[in-house]
Amino acid sequence: MRFLVTGAAGFIGSNVVDRLLADGHEVVGFDSYITGQREFLTGAFASPKFRLIEGDLFDLTSVIEACVGIDTVIHFAANADVRFGTNHPRRDLDQNVIVTWNVLEGMRRNGVKTIAFSSTGSVYGVAPRIPTPEDCPLPIQTSLYGASKLAAEGFISAYAEGFGVRAIIFRFVSILGERYTHGHVFDFYKQLLEHPDYLRVLGDGSQRKGYLHVQDCVDAIMIALDKSDEKVGIFNLGVPGYCQLTDSIGWISNHLGLNPRLEYTGGKQGWIGDNPFIFLDCWKMCSLGWQPKLSIEAAVRRTVDYLQANKWVLERRP
Ligand SMILES: NC(=O)c1ccc[n+]([C@@H]2O[C@H](COP(=O)([O-])OP(=O)(O)OC[C@H]3O[C@@H](n4cnc5c(N)ncnc54)[C@H](O)[C@@H]3O)[C@@H](O)[C@H]2O)c1
Repeated sequence: MRFLVTGAAGFIGSNVVDRLLADGHEVVGFDSYITGQREFLTGAFASPKFRLIEGDLFDLTSVIEACVGIDTVIHFAANADVRFGTNHPRRDLDQNVIVTWNVLEGMRRNGVKTIAFSSTGSVYGVAPRIPTPEDCPLPIQTSLYGASKLAAEGFISAYAEGFGVRAIIFRFVSILGERYTHGHVFDFYKQLLEHPDYLRVLGDGSQRKGYLHVQDCVDAIMIALDKSDEKVGIFNLGVPGYCQLTDSIGWISNHLGLNPRLEYTGGKQGWIGDNPFIFLDCWKMCSLGWQPKLSIEAAVRRTVDYLQANKWVLERRP
């Protein structure tokens, strides 16, 4: 099989690329390195079955060319930061909606029949049902990121209906693990390196969230690509549980042998659009034969190990 992976140099995308190559597939990566890291593709570059197109998916012509001869597109390129959405109100529209439309057009013009897409549990906003199943009514959107992902899901579904594309849409909780470059473990670890005696925490620490290790995430993507037979298959991805932010702070501090004083900024949310309780019902994905192998605690501890061994990533992302 020949795959196009957008966001190939990113945290999750590069782990997907490595798995596809290990499984014997041919992979064309596409990345602008806006947040991706060349080093994440070191293993891939050593494979004759890998090629990277360095460019911006905003350029439709490049995307159309990239889709030539492709069987499946794994579209993971995006602005993946929820938190700073209101600082640049157009970014989610451009990078998450227009770029997704470009990818769909590239597929349509080349007869590519399958797309896997990284959406987010953020589309559930403040969910009316917990644990939240895929068919939960979608509430009013609370972040530009969530709104852009939902719009992208809409375009993907319409292309599936209109042009016979098979779509697999994953709504992830936050992902942790090797090559992690953004999120609360990253922020906390970076802070504790600078000042081991105190930690500034956004919100009041009571936020409850699910997390998933990146290898469990990649397993699920591979299984769904193989087994999903719906025209548009939507799959929640997370562990069967959640932790409170203070649990995670405890694991990180314990792992580093620290006991920082905690300074809370206060309020139930860490930032505008932060959903204080995210717990996804992943029964549908599990029914395809998938089970996450790592607990949230193990995923947090492995992420800290990764950051300790790869401090260079801390300098690359603000
Ligand atoms: N990390 C998480 O916890 C999480 C949770 C839910 C959903 N997601 C989604 O999963 C996907 C991957 O996230 P990630 O954490 O690996 O993020 P990431 O920032 O590490 O990866 C995104 C990649 O896309 C590339 N990219 C972005 N815009 C581009 C453009 N216009 N042209 C070419 N390349 C471009 C970046 O350079 C980067 O390599 C994203 O779609 C994100 O929204 C991530």
